[in-house]
Amino acid sequence: MTVFLVGAGPGDADLLTVRAARLLARADVVVHDRLVERSVLELANSNADLIDVGKAPGAFTSQSIINDLLVSLGQNYDCVVRLKGGDPFVFGRGGEEMMALREAGVACDVVPGVTSAFSGPLAAGIPVTHRTLSRGVTVVTGHLANDDDGYFRRLANPDITLVILMGVARRDAIASQLIEGGLSRATPVAVIENAWTERQRETRATLTELGVLDVASPAIIVIGPCAALSLRDVLVDTRAIT
Ligand SMILES: C[S@@+](CC[C@H](N)C(=O)[O-])C[C@H]1O[C@@H](n2cnc3c(N)ncnc32)[C@H](O)[C@@H]1O
Repeated sequence: MTVFLVGAGPGDADLLTVRAARLLARADVVVHDRLVERSVLELANSNADLIDVGKAPGAFTSQSIINDLLVSLGQNYDCVVRLKGGDPFVFGRGGEEMMALREAGVACDVVPGVTSAFSGPLAAGIPVTHRTLSRGVTVVTGHLANDDDGYFRRLANPDITLVILMGVARRDAIASQLIEGGLSRATPVAVIENAWTERQRETRATLTELGVLDVASPAIIVIGPCAALSLRDVLVDTRAIT
């Protein structure tokens, strides 16, 4: 009896790991989030129960209820797959769920996933690091822009790429704080919505325009010189091949 915390990748089912696909095929139960694409769920064993604990408005399941559910399923089924978008441990609360399972004495294992933090930009042809343009990458949640302490002011650094998850609702505050912190208003920005799905959409702008961009969640916001790159035209669409 084991609960597997499994990454579903950013969208396209081809971006699952082989191990994730194998586990889905033998799962008794799959407990999944809202951002997991239908094409990924279709890889689950046809006898498996699929439980949606998606955190969409109106369909909120609290984390403690999810933890209790995983403990109880783990005590009763041989193979429980807890399937989370991207990587379970990048803003995915994988650590909290693992601790709850450990505390209850339920065996668990992990399968990393392709995180949207890095693969989302790449879907628009943006490498998050690129020699001469960026010395590194910082991944943060946009929720931090709610804080009065001006967290994003301290993230203003023209030498790194800033990748922001869950930032759409706070894009105006994020842009203002980064500009207050000293980042140029002309800094390139890219927003990639629904990366690696058929609904993918990308928007290019500058930091001064970020606050008023017409974009919606789920999206990745990329800020920095790399956000001006668009290497998509030199890529072959491998989805046609695989
Ligand atoms: C709760 S976080 C989960 C992140 C996930 N664990 C990962 O590693 O990608 C949800 C946020 O991830 C981002 N996200 C996840 N999948 C995405 C996708 N396919 N396209 C764009 N953004 C995505 C969005 O910022 C979304 O609001």
